[in-house]
Amino acid sequence: MHSAHTALRATFQTARLPVMAAPMFLVSGPELVCASLSAGIVGTYAAPNARNVEALDAALSQIGAHAAECAGVPWALNMIVHRSYDRFEAEMALVERYRPGIVTTALGSPRRVLDRVHAYGGLVMADVISPALARKAIEAGVDGLLLVTNGAGGHTGQYHPFAFLAEVREFWDGPIGLAGAISTGSQIRAAQLLGADFAVIGTRLIATPESMVSDQYRDLLVSSRMEDLTMSSAVSGVPANWLKPTLESAGFTAEQLKAEARIDFSGDIVAAPKAWKDVWSAGHGVGAVRRVAPVREVVEELEREYLACLRKEQGDISALARRHADRSVTA
Ligand SMILES: Cc1cc2nc3c(=O)[nH]c(=O)nc-3n(C[C@H](O)[C@H](O)[C@H](O)COP(=O)(O)O)c2cc1C
Repeated sequence: MHSAHTALRATFQTARLPVMAAPMFLVSGPELVCASLSAGIVGTYAAPNARNVEALDAALSQIGAHAAECAGVPWALNMIVHRSYDRFEAEMALVERYRPGIVTTALGSPRRVLDRVHAYGGLVMADVISPALARKAIEAGVDGLLLVTNGAGGHTGQYHPFAFLAEVREFWDGPIGLAGAISTGSQIRAAQLLGADFAVIGTRLIATPESMVSDQYRDLLVSSRMEDLTMSSAVSGVPANWLKPTLESAGFTAEQLKAEARIDFSGDIVAAPKAWKDVWSAGHGVGAVRRVAPVREVVEELEREYLACLRKEQGDISALARRHADRSVTA
């Protein structure tokens, strides 16, 4: 067994729940990451949420100090590794200084960070939206994959989690995190039953006081269901799920939403000025967001639901064993 795979799996086996709080642009600040760590799940900071390198330095210092106090699950950092992202070198230097246990990469090849993260003992996972990209990330040498599936908040995938996981499991036996519309404890358990090692949860954690968003965004999540979302590439250049009322108030027409915008991460972080800031994203699991609640309470609820699933499975196994025993008596 690959030692990096064992280490990554152990992280999620020993955490309170097999869950990684997803990195989310303009959502996941140090408070959300620290609250996730305090609640016993892996917290992930999205590096572009710091407006400059000095702010990133301060954010990583705060998270690193909190993680040391919690002394439980590791924290993770999500980096854009696209060639046009001009903060890459400066961010990498901070990664080497603050040493997040896990580095997740998006929008580009994870090859750029592998050696330098491995050099200090960190582990690298790559976001992938297709089996082809999963193969590429594996060839590059990642320690784990994050499968972004259909229905995910933010830049979404197009493939169904059942089929996507099954195909990837044919050629990869290493750690997998499943992302996309996982908003309840039973869905976390379902991800494991499908063959994932852990669930990546985004949308469910936005309507928390610890996130960076406005109260209007939180309230809109509470009142929204999956039919209140539209998937479009027009806003940020990549297919993403957006809350319809925010598309409308930003002035997007039905015609514009069918168009594709160009991807360009140079200079400013976002391709279109309105993406993420004025036009808000959520995944298909938004219906499970019933109220604004602190991360601790969300995790407690997820844990109750997850444990209820395990108890039900235990009951199912006992019932199956009884049926087998009855059959062998009557045979
Ligand atoms: C508002 C929002 C912003 C996001 N920003 C990022 C990001 O900056 N980097 C990234 O890798 N993923 C980003 N994501 C995707 C999440 O990391 C994760 O894959 C997704 O939220 C999981 O699906 P769920 O929201 O249905 O739980 C974002 C998601 C949302 C909802």
